[in-house]
Amino acid sequence: MNIYDIQQEIARLKKEKNICILAHSYQAHEILEVADYTGDSFQLSVKAQSVEADTVVMCGVRFMAETVKLLSPEKKVILSHPDAGCPMAEQMDPMRIEQLRALHPGCKVVAYVNTTAELKAVCDVCVTSSSAVKIVSSLPEKDILFIPDCNLGAFVAKSCPDKNLILVQGGCPVHAAITADEVKAAKAAHPHALLAVHPECTPEVTAFADYVGSTGGIMTFAKNSDAKEFIIGTDNSIAEHLQYECPDKAFYVLSKDLLCRNMKLTTLVDLLNCLKGTFGEEIVLPEELQKKARVCIDEMIALGG
Ligand code: 13P
Ligand code: SF4
Repeated sequence: MNIYDIQQEIARLKKEKNICILAHSYQAHEILEVADYTGDSFQLSVKAQSVEADTVVMCGVRFMAETVKLLSPEKKVILSHPDAGCPMAEQMDPMRIEQLRALHPGCKVVAYVNTTAELKAVCDVCVTSSSAVKIVSSLPEKDILFIPDCNLGAFVAKSCPDKNLILVQGGCPVHAAITADEVKAAKAAHPHALLAVHPECTPEVTAFADYVGSTGGIMTFAKNSDAKEFIIGTDNSIAEHLQYECPDKAFYVLSKDLLCRNMKLTTLVDLLNCLKGTFGEEIVLPEELQKKARVCIDEMIALGG
């Protein structure tokens, strides 16, 4: 079977079995081509609320499939690869939140959506990278405990100067590993290119950027800009996808190492096997956990994020 045959079979099976495929933009191009909806965490959460199919296959990492399940508990939700986790999502023990609340009484606990359902269950509100600033600025509380990404938290703090952001050490091992020296080298190699980076990068890196935003934000910025060259400071697949969409522009990766191995675990054949029912993992969350974790997600949706 070649790629095209596999894609045809996936299209046939999803129609036959009434399955919807959601794919995060970090997935491989051949997966995005067969997905019903693609986008960043925020865009996929919005879509997850209105999907009509009985079964959703989420091509991405575990917290994304859990979020779909929380938003559509009546649906069967399949994670495209059982080993695809996000290391950041598991960085914090939910017990730690209780200790931090005791240290900062009255604070609002804001969780990046890149967290386990267990962690969400003990927080107050979720945010995505594209909605974090909007949601934090709309909260009545001044003291905000922001977990688990201190880099995204620092970006929010800069954009919300009237808030007191309490940050904890944590973050994305892929984005946070990018150094200012790598930025300087990329800018020296491509002096006319604009630099767009994800807020999971450190403040030392985002300080150089012409644009800082979510995956979807970076793509929109690059597509709408009159500039012709861009250095992309998020997963390298985004530079590739943008190159397909904007053939008259040039996209360079900020670093060869900006690759999320977890996001790249799912192959097109894995997706085919998910549709056949022989691969993937059905997301099952205890009812009590669903109820508690859902509060955080509902609050995010209510606040427009
Ligand atoms: P987005 O909110 O941009 O989709 O980010 C998800 C993610 O995991 C980035 O590392
Ligand atoms: Fe998690 Fe980072 Fe991968 Fe995003 S890029 S899924 S935050 S490890």
